[in-house]
Order: sequence, then structure tokens, then C-alpha cells
Amino acid sequence: MARIIGTLSTSHIPAIGNAIAKGLQNEPYWKPFFDSWPPVREWLAREKPDVVVFFYNDHGLNFFLDKMPTFAVGACAEYVSEDEGWGIPTIPSVRGEPKLSWQIINGIVEDGFDPVMCQEMAVDHAITNPLLLMFPDAKWPVTIVPIAINSIQHPLPGPKRCFDLGRAVGKAIEAWPEDKKVLLIGSGGLSHQLDGSRAGFINKAFDTECLEAMVSGVEPLTKYSALDVVEKAGAQGVELMCWIAARAAMQGDVKELHRTYHIPISNTASAVQLLSHSRAAETAKAA
Ligand code: DHB
Ligand code: FE
Repeated sequence: MARIIGTLSTSHIPAIGNAIAKGLQNEPYWKPFFDSWPPVREWLAREKPDVVVFFYNDHGLNFFLDKMPTFAVGACAEYVSEDEGWGIPTIPSVRGEPKLSWQIINGIVEDGFDPVMCQEMAVDHAITNPLLLMFPDAKWPVTIVPIAINSIQHPLPGPKRCFDLGRAVGKAIEAWPEDKKVLLIGSGGLSHQLDGSRAGFINKAFDTECLEAMVSGVEPLTKYSALDVVEKAGAQGVELMCWIAARAAMQGDVKELHRTYHIPISNTASAVQLLSHSRAAETAKAA
């Protein structure tokens, strides 16, 4: 049976892709963010996930205001990066895991969700930033399943909906009969607002509350509405929903292996957090 080995959540910011392309990782501005990653890469090298399930938000690449699914699941054999801007080099496409995509789609439809099923899906920095940070040589040793959560067009799904989605996805993954190790990723956040009168808004107290909840149990965050999160985390800080869904997909005890929080990268309070599933932690200890 498939096994969820951990949840890795991280901010994504187009400027990160640009910094990687220009080799700026050791510049004083960038070093605190890039220094988050060696311990994560060491863990990945040890644990060797086979498949990565991304909870992320599409930034207008696949869906725009004319047609905006609340939730969409990629079921493609291959995903091509078509990110915007900067003129950075394109990165190799990444292989999908269609069997797991359909396992998830079947499971969550059964559990009351109505995802858009995408047999063509381009990916943006919300997927390519974490991939390049995990595997800087761009030789992807994993396949992926992207699950997009609307963070652009209101009404947005709030923490409770995203928590329930995560639970349903986790259940479907654990019922997948393949003997594969699955890593969950929540991509986005934490607090940030890119435009309007609150542009540059960051809320360290709320971010800290959320980072703590990822460890102690994420369910208390479901008391907030989507609009509460807009107020507390900023208009784009609603990407927190991806963290909530990714964390909710991993049931049972978790161990926090790594956390960094750094203000700001571009307009964003950047955070990286790695949680291992208690079973994975037990296996690592026994090994
Ligand atoms: C920034 C952050 C994002 O999450 C994003 O998708 C685009 C830009 C930023 O801080 O610049
Ligand atoms: Fe974003």
C-alpha cells in the first residue's frame, strides 16, 4: 500500500526561480531562504519519496477569471513548466503519476468533492520552485500529482473546505494499492499581499500561529473563514489553504523536522516546514 511519509510546505515566489537561474543563493538577501533547504535535501536523500502530491494554487496559467475551478486535479502523464516572466531558462518537464491522480479523483468525488479533472495542465512557479529547491540538478527523481486550490476568484474555499479536501485526498492516497512512498507539499504563503492599499502586508503573529498549528493539529485553523484569512494573512496569503490541505492529508502524529521563517522575500513572509509522519520517523529511528 502507498505510504505518506511527510508534509513539506514552502513559500513559492517567482523571484526564487530568478535567483536560482542567476546563482544568487549565497547573496545576503537570499542566503537565509536558501539555507533552509540543505536539511530538507538530506531528508529527501534518505527517505526517497516516489511521488509528490502538490497542493498549490495556479496563478492564471490554466484557469483565469472566466473559468475558475475551486479544486482541480492534474491527471497528466507529463507537466510542462510555462511560468511567467523573468526570461529564466525553462526547466525539464516533470512526469505525472496518472494512476494516483485517478485514485485521488475517484476518492474525493466519492467523498463529496467536484474537482475539475485535467488531462492537460501546465505548471508554474508554485510547482517549479519547490521542485528546483528539492532537486537543484533538475533531474526529477519523483513523479507528481498537482491539486490546484482556487486562491484568486471569490468565493474562495476556506480553511474548513481545504481541511476536508486534504483529509479526503489523504484517505485516497492511503488506499492506493501501489507500494510507493508519497510526499505531500503545500505550496504558497505565508502572509503576503501584492497589491492594493495593504500591499506589503505581513503578519508574523498569525504566521506563527499557523506554523504551530501544523505541528500540534491543524483543525483549530478551520474556525477561520476564507475572508478571515484574507484579513489576517493578506489577499495572497490565502495560499495558506494549500498548507492546511497538505497537512490535513497526513493523519496521526507528526514530528517537526525542520522550520524556517524569514521576512521578507519579495513581498512575502517566507517559510519552509518539514513534518514527518510518525510512522516514517519510527522507521528512520529503527534503521
Ligand atoms: C510573490 C509571491 C507569490 O506567492 C506569488 O505567487 C507571486 C509573487 C511575491 O512576493 O513577489
Ligand atoms: Fe503565489
